[in-house]
Amino acid sequence: MASARTLQAVILAGGQGTRLRPLTLERAKPVVPLLNRPLLAYQLALLRAHGVSDVVLACSYRVDDVRAALGDAEHLGVRLRYVVELEPLGTGGGVRNASDLVSGSLFVLNGDILTDADLTAMRRLHETSGSRTTIFLQPVPDPRQYGLVEADESGRLLGFREKPTLDEEITTNTINAGIYLIDAPLLARIPRGRESSIEREFFPALIEDGIPCYGWSPTAYWRDIGTPSAYRAAQLDLLHGRAGMPLTPAGECRDGSWIAGGGAVAPEAQIVAPSVVGAGAALGRRCRVGPGAVIGDGSRIGPDACVEGAILWERVEVGAGAVLQDCIVGANVRIGAYARVGPEVVLESGAVVPEHATLAG
Ligand code: GDD
Ligand code: MG
Repeated sequence: MASARTLQAVILAGGQGTRLRPLTLERAKPVVPLLNRPLLAYQLALLRAHGVSDVVLACSYRVDDVRAALGDAEHLGVRLRYVVELEPLGTGGGVRNASDLVSGSLFVLNGDILTDADLTAMRRLHETSGSRTTIFLQPVPDPRQYGLVEADESGRLLGFREKPTLDEEITTNTINAGIYLIDAPLLARIPRGRESSIEREFFPALIEDGIPCYGWSPTAYWRDIGTPSAYRAAQLDLLHGRAGMPLTPAGECRDGSWIAGGGAVAPEAQIVAPSVVGAGAALGRRCRVGPGAVIGDGSRIGPDACVEGAILWERVEVGAGAVLQDCIVGANVRIGAYARVGPEVVLESGAVVPEHATLAG
């Protein structure tokens, strides 16, 4: 147990990331890179910025990836502990499995959310309203893939419906944004050691039983990184400064692009802002990187190649004259000379694209 003054959080990081395949075949979703930093590093930095210094990661699928990417997170200024489910226990069971390590009112976060929300303001609302569970709410154009949340004028929750299928159940476009403040004693309501859903079981039962639960609706940047297009769009948002994150890319900012250094940039290579060039990356003669390019650590861009709006993971080799546009390229991919990789294409780590090939989404 932590002392009463230590602020705590549990991050749900055990999903399979099915919709983000093939990227998540090689790396767990919570640690896919965003501007060359693991997604969870942004959450940990946000938590830290709001005084949370003790974080428990509820893991199951690919926990080794998460450990490899984050370690004990000392460099991020938080204490990080891992609780691993032998069988996936779902979003409810995952939090329950971590509940012995937490007390007070704790933040619970879905591990695939990128946001700059003012969590201090969320805590203030939780405390002043007498709320025992507070849910961060967001309006979205199409709520079907989310948890729909109904609240009264004071913000008190009236109903929670996870991914309704019938049209008549779509009564609001206000959704659960995947960050909660929960009074720890309530977690005892979740059964131990079996699969359960926080969205389908825990929240509806709290509301049904008349326990005060409130929604919090800030103006904030928010995105679920669950699909390849959302994953790429989130990075363009970060590059264009649409989110006020407490974490910047590695290296120094030059003319609107971040360059980590340690690589070789040929004198005629162009880096068009906003872009990010990872540590040890090499840019060949007359190549053009950007706008909106993210070059992973140790990647090599051949002479005359062009990489625009594209996300490259680590150690990608791009051949001479190849053109990459608005695509996502996993680690260790080799793209042959003069190949073209177009919008919406997602290349699995280790893939090889032959010379002169054209791949369209
Ligand atoms: N530990 C653990 N164990 N974590 C899990 C498990 C599990 O068995 N299953 C899923 N998770 C984690 C995922 O890794 C993710 O971080 C989080 O729980 C939510 O799972 P998703 O699979 O991403 O759910 P979703 O995106 O369909 O819906 C959720 O997020 C929406 C907002 O983006 C729900 O919370 C919705 O209500 C919400 O609107
Ligand atoms: Mg999700």
